[in-house]
Amino acid sequence: MTQSSISVEENQAVLEIYGRSKLSGEVVISGAKNSALAIMAGALLCPGDCHLDNVPSLADIEKMVQILTSLGLEIVRKGQSLEIKAQNITEVQAPYDLVSQMRASFFVIGPLLTRMGVAHIPLPGGCAIGARPVDLHVRGLQAMGAEVIIEHGVVQAYIKGNNKRLVGTKIYLDYPSVGATETLMMAATLAEGETIIENAACEPEVIDLANFCAAMGANIQGAGTKTITVSGVHSLHSVKYSIIPDRIEAGTFLVAGAITESELSLFPVIPEHLASVIAKLKAIGPKVVIEGVNRVRIIPAPLKATDIETLPFPGFPTDMQAQFMALLTLAEGNSIVTETVFENRMRHVAELQRMGANIRVKGSHAIIQGVPCLGGAPLIATDLRASAALVLAGLAAEGKTIIQSLHHLDRGYDNLDGKLQKVGARLRRIPSVGTENQLMSSEEDSALVR
Ligand code: UD1
Repeated sequence: MTQSSISVEENQAVLEIYGRSKLSGEVVISGAKNSALAIMAGALLCPGDCHLDNVPSLADIEKMVQILTSLGLEIVRKGQSLEIKAQNITEVQAPYDLVSQMRASFFVIGPLLTRMGVAHIPLPGGCAIGARPVDLHVRGLQAMGAEVIIEHGVVQAYIKGNNKRLVGTKIYLDYPSVGATETLMMAATLAEGETIIENAACEPEVIDLANFCAAMGANIQGAGTKTITVSGVHSLHSVKYSIIPDRIEAGTFLVAGAITESELSLFPVIPEHLASVIAKLKAIGPKVVIEGVNRVRIIPAPLKATDIETLPFPGFPTDMQAQFMALLTLAEGNSIVTETVFENRMRHVAELQRMGANIRVKGSHAIIQGVPCLGGAPLIATDLRASAALVLAGLAAEGKTIIQSLHHLDRGYDNLDGKLQKVGARLRRIPSVGTENQLMSSEEDSALVR
């Protein structure tokens, strides 16, 4: 083993969880990752200053900061706020090493192209949960008059002609892709005339992006419905905007309450964004009480089997599938979970099986027979929401769970360990892997068990 590979291993933190603790108290939900990423890309549209509040502290957000900085933007983070100055865009090519690490970085293509007349963005490449092509983004931009050449792994998009504006048109999306809807909506804000996006994604993050663009002076109607109409304007202006709460983080904490048989109160949330998640939780057994306009409380109850199928919003979110699968491993009876959005989003199954879960996968279906308890085990996180599912399973399991590859978790959860500790979970991050025996015998370890 080389010196450098040793140090990489030593730097890899693991999360150690002792399960079966009751949780209680309030969890503060951070700003939505997926909104924040799209809105940061949207800052490219505006030559004035963008002040964003409620931006979560996440690895993906830091990557987007790096990508925007590489294009010439000046960005300062102060706590949960970002000051973005996009007066001078000095580069129109995003760096491959950053784009390849995060698919959402491809979403800069729309705002960059419509503002600068040119954008060179590397194809984001494969991803742990499926192939995730960008054909809908590209076809939509072409329909608006962009010339697109895909060469050497880079999507090179240009606006021809003297006035360098995209031209509004009617675009039908074959699938209501969140990213494609966002790319095209942003591109249309500065286009000439009217753009109509049919079969648009209705996710709350699309509405948040539309509201952000409208606050800069864009003219967008219908965000949150299947048809979005954008009337192009010549320029956008400075804005101060606050990101919505993260419905996936909130959903994950609701499952944390259900799986540990604990009462938790979450704040702030937008309850309508959680409707399908709350409906499924109620079908499984726990009570979910909406308190006022922005708080939700989970009250535990015995778990019973339920079928779930992931769908575009307002259907059940694919980003909550893994967490619910962890919950259903402990529900009495047989459940079927069907993943329809991504083709390879069941990689958590093998890890849950290592904890004693009874799950069979057939194509896009997982058949889960509930077991009375899970047992802690060493596990490897495979993608962002799969890691959250393993944390949840670890919180419910007998004994100790150790989760490796935490960089997946850190992409999308703002201080998950700290928030769980605050409500009584027994878990901690250990900087180096070590062997399992070493971990079991450490003195600190036994203190944690008590
Ligand atoms: C966004 C979310 C992600 C969530 C997903 C679905 C962000 C940063 N990420 O991802 O957390 O899981 O929505 O709710 O917002 N597709 C195509 N061609 C395209 C685009 C998409 O075939 O051009 C397919 C994808 O492969 C996938 C499906 O459409 O099977 C949905 O993808 P999409 O809605 O685009 O997801 P993202 O925007 O990448």
